[in-house]
Amino acid sequence: MKLLVTGGCGFIGSTFVRMALARGHEVVNVDKLTYAGNPANVAEVADDPKYHFVHADIADAPAMADALTGVDAVVNMAAESHVDRSILDPAAFPMTDVVGTAVILDQSRRAGVGRFVQVSTDEVYGSIPVGLFRETDPLNPSSPYSASKAGGDLQALAWHHTYGMDVVVTRGSNTYGPRQYPEKLIPLFVTNALDGEQLPVYGDGQQIRDWIHVEDHCSGVFAALEHGIAGEVYNVGGGNERTNLEITERILEYTNRDASLIRYVEDRLGHDRRYALATEKLSLLGWSAAVDFGTGLTDTVTWYRDNRAWWEPIKSGEYRAYYDEQYGQR
Ligand code: NAD
Ligand code: TYD
Repeated sequence: MKLLVTGGCGFIGSTFVRMALARGHEVVNVDKLTYAGNPANVAEVADDPKYHFVHADIADAPAMADALTGVDAVVNMAAESHVDRSILDPAAFPMTDVVGTAVILDQSRRAGVGRFVQVSTDEVYGSIPVGLFRETDPLNPSSPYSASKAGGDLQALAWHHTYGMDVVVTRGSNTYGPRQYPEKLIPLFVTNALDGEQLPVYGDGQQIRDWIHVEDHCSGVFAALEHGIAGEVYNVGGGNERTNLEITERILEYTNRDASLIRYVEDRLGHDRRYALATEKLSLLGWSAAVDFGTGLTDTVTWYRDNRAWWEPIKSGEYRAYYDEQYGQR
């Protein structure tokens, strides 16, 4: 297939691009290269004759019309993706996650694309104190990020309902692994711990997330792309619930640091307490998560330890200003 992947210079997108090429697909990577987009994430495939890069915004209709020529399927991963940034600067989020999604959906429809996969998040369901979210549960997003993602998710389903477009939506859980921008919990705490810096735990640290390795998240998106039913939603969860404090303690252990690095800070505004997903529907397509959490997390710590040249330049410049604004007064 000729696949158009958006956000292919980001964390999950770059993993997906590498996996798609390894599976023999041709890949057009459309990326705006925001602060989170890093060409180094796809450097090893840049010279592959089946790989093409288009530097563009998914909200740019003429650019999308051009990029979509001859494309069989679209996987829309491009997004503003960080909850904390959405609390500091909410207006940027609907521009990509809602408007951009509408533009690329519509250009894909006009181009006659065979299948459109909208990569969404479990955060669109909101928080769940006990039990698991199913695909039929109502959306109840809490943050500006998750509200914007819910907007994109619903539009994708509306394009199926209204135009009969072949659309599938995936709702993935918290993802970890190499090349994740060091603003999210795991890469931030791993890189801070490696540098002997404090780990800012929000509130009581008892919030729960369902962690999935990036390769398992991507194989879930492939399952939905290849075998999903048009108009359906598929949860992609790791079945691996951990409190933030458990994650913090493991990171301290794997980096040979102690609990003196933990700093409890003021909680995030509107902080969701727990996310958890039922994944039977995706399992029926033949998917299962393959990476054991302990192995995945130690490998991730090793990757950050061995790849300082990847993250040290990121953690200067613009990032420093963000970090001071986010954590300075906490
Ligand atoms: P990321 O922030 O690492 O990467 C996002 C990429 O999108 C970057 O390369 C950026 O340059 C690009 N981008 C942003 N705006 C764009 C625009 N307007 N046009 C073109 N490119 C643009 O994000 P990620 O963590 O890899 O997440 C990828 C997708 O998966 C997102 O849609 C996110 O909502 C979803 N998701 C992420 C997680 C997670 O834990 N990271 C979990 C579930 C779902
Ligand atoms: P994050 O990685 O931002 O993902 P999300 O908010 O999309 O789940 O955060 C994961 C959890 O870790 C969340 O409960 C907030 C918490 N957290 C901290 O306690 N401290 C931090 O510095 C960060 C970035 C997150």
